[in-house]
Amino acid sequence: MEKFALVTGGMGYIGSHISVALIQAGYQVVVLDNLSNSSEKVLSGIKNITGETPHFVHADLRDDDAILEVFNEYPITSVVHTAGLKSVEESVGDPSKYYENNIGSTITLVKAMKTARVPTLVFSSSATVYSSLSEPPFDENTKTSPVNPYGMSKHIIEQILADMALADSKWRFGILRYFNPVGAHTSGKIGESPSGIPNNLMPYLMQVAIGKLAKLPIYGDDYETPDGTCIRDYVHVVDLARGHLAALKFLENKNGAHFWNLGTGKGTSVLELVKAVEKVVGKPIPIEKKPRRKGDIPIVFADVAKASNELSWQAEYSIEKMCTDHWNWQKYNPDGYQ
Ligand code: NAD
Ligand code: WQD
Repeated sequence: MEKFALVTGGMGYIGSHISVALIQAGYQVVVLDNLSNSSEKVLSGIKNITGETPHFVHADLRDDDAILEVFNEYPITSVVHTAGLKSVEESVGDPSKYYENNIGSTITLVKAMKTARVPTLVFSSSATVYSSLSEPPFDENTKTSPVNPYGMSKHIIEQILADMALADSKWRFGILRYFNPVGAHTSGKIGESPSGIPNNLMPYLMQVAIGKLAKLPIYGDDYETPDGTCIRDYVHVVDLARGHLAALKFLENKNGAHFWNLGTGKGTSVLELVKAVEKVVGKPIPIEKKPRRKGDIPIVFADVAKASNELSWQAEYSIEKMCTDHWNWQKYNPDGYQ
């Protein structure tokens, strides 16, 4: 049977890389996206890389009729659910927007999947669900206790999926907790295109490197880490995309809800990432020391044994490759998709 995947949020940063990986693995892909944080130009990027344009449905995932129509029109066999809002800061200011969009759209989606008898879904969760009081590395059994509405929306969705899988053994759910996705497709044809001033470290660094922003603020250099700056587990978005293929393969003959961390298992400090970017762009990155950012945890990195054992998935790309590919995208697309 032909494999036909629906990628919700497939025009976004991570969803577009997943769409490429799926097409290259022989899937037919339907992307559903409301373009609230993305551009239709992504389609030509995907076509450039794969030679194929995915089917595209411009709709909001909370629109029951539109979603049912997608399942009626295409013989979908599995779903990769990346659609969602992702700004921690925005979620603190407008929690109901995050709960409504992220949880509401997931409920609409699983209801339509039930009607269409499509049992397989891979969900974009986040390491942000883990308790900030836990000791790294975080494995999948680490206590979950998100501290902001964005993280809580992911936690609630995880719980909904786990409860559904307990209630009905037909469901096959893969819940992927991403650590810090960075990088871009090696071709430079698709990548991250943040609107406004980026919140995250790598896109901010890139905009300083290209000259759009003057200096990188370093939020805290007095943490209990070797160089005083926070440590994170950065993972290349192409490695991440491969993780979704591995999860779909696993779910071909396993039901239930399964959780996996997707990270490298290695920590990199803010200053180490600055150095790696400087090496790739060939010039110094001006920095400015700032007070700690509220809510930041000093050290976060993944225990990746479960994904390695169960999915035979491991991140392959180094920090240097993440910086090289992100820079390649930024250099040739200084304004992203705008
Ligand atoms: P993104 O904003 O680039 O992509 C999300 C896409 O979903 C966008 O194209 C947006 O237009 C679409 N979308 C949002 N709400 C929708 C709705 N109601 N209906 C239809 N489309 C909708 O974000 P991303 O970085 O690609 O993240 C993808 C997923 O991974 C998100 O769920 C995010 O929470 C999760 N995640 C991201 C990161 C990260 O650092 N980027 C880390 C962990 C988890
Ligand atoms: C990394 C480090 C900052 C910007 C966030 C979300 C998380 C997940 C991934 C979705 C921290 C420092 C940053 C800057 C800096 N997203 N920093 N100057 O906070 O680990 O995770 O993205 O699920 O939910 O919270 O990533 O890239 O924002 O920060 O010094 O201009 O870089 O303080 O130590 P974070 P980040």
